[in-house]
Amino acid sequence: MDSAKASDELTALPEWRALAQHRDRLGDLELARLFEDDTRRAERLALEHDDLLLDYSKNLVTEETLGLLVALARARGVPARIADLFAGEHINASEDRPALHVALRAPAERTLEVAGSDVVSQAHGVLARMASFCEAVRSGAWLGYSGRRIRHVVNIGIGGSDLGPRMACRALAAYTDTDLQVHFVANIDADDLGGKLAGLDPAETLFVVCSKTFTTEETLANAHAARAWLLGSLADEGAVARHFVAASANLEAAGRFGIDPALCFEFWDWVGGRFSLASSVGLSLMLSIGPERFREMLAGMHSMDEHFRVAPLEANMPVLLGLLGAWYVGFYGVSSECVAPYSEALADFPAFLQQLEMESNGKRVSETGEPLAHQTGPVVWGQSGTRGQHAFFQMLHQGTRWVPCDFIGFARGHARVADHQDRLMANLFAQSEALAFGHTGSPEQSCPGNRPSNTLLAPLLTPRTLGQLVALYEHKVVVQAAVWGINAFDQWGVELGKQLAGRIRQEIEAGGVSEGQHDGSTRALIERYLAQRDPGD
Ligand code: F6P
Repeated sequence: MDSAKASDELTALPEWRALAQHRDRLGDLELARLFEDDTRRAERLALEHDDLLLDYSKNLVTEETLGLLVALARARGVPARIADLFAGEHINASEDRPALHVALRAPAERTLEVAGSDVVSQAHGVLARMASFCEAVRSGAWLGYSGRRIRHVVNIGIGGSDLGPRMACRALAAYTDTDLQVHFVANIDADDLGGKLAGLDPAETLFVVCSKTFTTEETLANAHAARAWLLGSLADEGAVARHFVAASANLEAAGRFGIDPALCFEFWDWVGGRFSLASSVGLSLMLSIGPERFREMLAGMHSMDEHFRVAPLEANMPVLLGLLGAWYVGFYGVSSECVAPYSEALADFPAFLQQLEMESNGKRVSETGEPLAHQTGPVVWGQSGTRGQHAFFQMLHQGTRWVPCDFIGFARGHARVADHQDRLMANLFAQSEALAFGHTGSPEQSCPGNRPSNTLLAPLLTPRTLGQLVALYEHKVVVQAAVWGINAFDQWGVELGKQLAGRIRQEIEAGGVSEGQHDGSTRALIERYLAQRDPGD
């Protein structure tokens, strides 16, 4: 913790203290005992909304714990925070603006005024433009500069301008009904961009430059390199307007790059990057699955939005998920959470959640800037099951520390291959059972059990289900931020590194480290790099 002056507003609350005393009374609560004592526990500690079933019975909680957690949520103003989110209040205090991603998936008949204009109709206006562009590209009506059909789409973006559409394109690959191939380039890594472009024909390639600010170093460097690659073959500046489109809140900068204003798909400063999948940031996804499927995803998000907005706290899926996470962080000293989707299509979901949760809630000061006396967002990590089982699950079962897990699974897969789905799901159920109830054998073989998890089940990974899952975790973040008293919508912590990298890059360009700059380690590392780098650079 930061200092003796740290804000203890949360931990001084009677509701927090009641939870602390309750935790002491619970002692070593045993999941096995809880299930023995209450044969209806699995039924009672489960919640269904739309396609999703959340089984939260394998958590180290009693009914009393849940009641106390809900009381804490009330004391921390979670209901008011939810209302403020949907009303467009400036809940992003440090940047003095709303976080209105829910408006992006609201039905067209809704209205929500921000600074005198209706953001829902703005969002639908852009969606309609995206839809007609995507239809044109998908049908072949939109042709490249030399009259050839577009066959490859390259999304250039990073962070929220990459992780959401990348994750969703993979998740919904079964819904791709075109031979368009969508590629993603995020890193400023010549091997990545060069490798991706190597197989492509410029005449058949469309670049989607995805950047809220249109100032992000990696994205702009990649976009300029892609532009040079295109012009190297289609030697006419006019080709840029035919092969580059943008998703951005900075239309001016996109225009300066040479993108036709008619092909700049706008989103707004009230959409946070990591909450932007439903905006024009989803353009590559829409190109891949088509506007109708994209709208189904938005409908799934809206369904979860409405649930979050109106369901009572004790039967509210994002609220419960958020409170359970906060329970372990606050009262068991837990510092990480694992997510394991039993679906290769959702293999990028953990990476998506890492940005969503850690960039949002990895904060050390309160909304008003005081250092906090309590812990906030944990490390989020994971991998698809069953792959993770053959990598890190050993630690989950027998390590000296335990990690709460979220398992995500589906009753059906899109492809039918022998009994693969049954085997996959048998593994999911076995893992949560083994974590919770363990096994007694020799010291090496024993698994202590009593390790908590949530399980989310749905019939099939559809666009609508994916929308519900994304919105569920987005709202979990909002709940936890309210409990911890932090701003989930800014990310000042990433700025320092960006500034330092800018200065170091200048030194590299100049071929030497400036006098008096850097610590001994950083200086020696840069000097070694300068000595070994490609002299042609
Ligand atoms: O550096 C972090 C960040 O600002 C993320 O929050 C954001 O999603 C990412 O960079 C990309 O930003 P942009 O969409 O403006 O290029």
